[in-house]
Amino acid sequence: MTKRIVVTGGAGYIGSHVCVELLASGRDILIIDNFSNSHPEAIARIEEIGERNVEVLEADLADASQANSIVERVKAFRADGAIHLAGLKAVGESVVQPARYYQTNIGSALTLLQALEAAGAKSLVFSSSATVYGELNDNPVTEEGRTGATNPYGRTKLYIEEILKDVASADGAWGIVNLRYFNPVGAHSSGRIGEDPNDIPNNLFPFIAQVAVGRREKLSIFGNDYPTRDGTGVRDYIHVVDLAKGHVAALDYLDKDNRGAIDVNLGAGKGYSVLESVAAFKRASNRDIPYEIAPRREGDIAEIYADASKAKKLFGWTAEKDIDAMCADHWRWQRENPEGYRS
Ligand code: UFG
Repeated sequence: MTKRIVVTGGAGYIGSHVCVELLASGRDILIIDNFSNSHPEAIARIEEIGERNVEVLEADLADASQANSIVERVKAFRADGAIHLAGLKAVGESVVQPARYYQTNIGSALTLLQALEAAGAKSLVFSSSATVYGELNDNPVTEEGRTGATNPYGRTKLYIEEILKDVASADGAWGIVNLRYFNPVGAHSSGRIGEDPNDIPNNLFPFIAQVAVGRREKLSIFGNDYPTRDGTGVRDYIHVVDLAKGHVAALDYLDKDNRGAIDVNLGAGKGYSVLESVAAFKRASNRDIPYEIAPRREGDIAEIYADASKAKKLFGWTAEKDIDAMCADHWRWQRENPEGYRS
């Protein structure tokens, strides 16, 4: 049974929500995070919501000089498994600094594998991305869709998936789930944890939320001439709490003695355009969201949404929260923490 779980990147946006759901499932956790794109305050909030303390190791999985102490700590924790979310995730930055992305993301995964081997813990859930599909498939996209990432960030996800498949085929004791996330948005309904971008947000929802709260003047909509129903890009937005529950469902699946490595989409299975998302956020926040139409962003695709039936079949999991709940919860977090964890 996976009772004791290492969560890398556990203080981050998705990680913090995953930690809350793991605690709710009765599991104990060790968070490994270097706080490069997260805030220690998130840990206090996880403990507050979960009404339990968690173990934390501040360390950089990609720093070879720290590997031994990380391995020792994972062993001492007596881990049964891990959820691996730590990594760099900015697409544009990855194009400019590819070597840094490969070194950080792949190096971190390898260090974690080494630690899990040492602890004899052979259950792993990996935070992959729908970006591995590129624009090669018809919608909705199934896990059998063709893969082909279009930037170094996406390729790190794809290569790590491949590494994990090699690991699972070399040793049948491993059970590995590559979770291919669509577009996580929203926040915990308590308003205590949520997305807190370090810089100018790259992603749509945090940007809209900062416009709504008055931190930014207007949204730029990247293109309105795509072959979609209103010309703007269409994505499969999934509430981050649903996404987090998908990780617990994946561990429960591994606990039923399912071994080998599999890929599983986590999406709501429904596409919304940028304009539809703006309208939904406007309704939820009752604030004006000024926008302008800007040129297309390089590397963006017109439309992608998930076939989420595999997660339902294997895990009994489906996304439950709709776009209005995503916007309402995202807005509550933004309104109550206008400067994120520094508020
Ligand atoms: N968009 C805007 N304005 C913005 C930000 C986004 O119009 O300021 C549009 C995009 O063009 C796209 C949609 O909103 O049509 C969603 O964009 P996001 O950046 O929120 O999400 P992406 O689908 O581009 O990003 C996702 C994941 C990344 C992943 C990427 C691959 O969040 O982790 O897909 O392209 F790498």
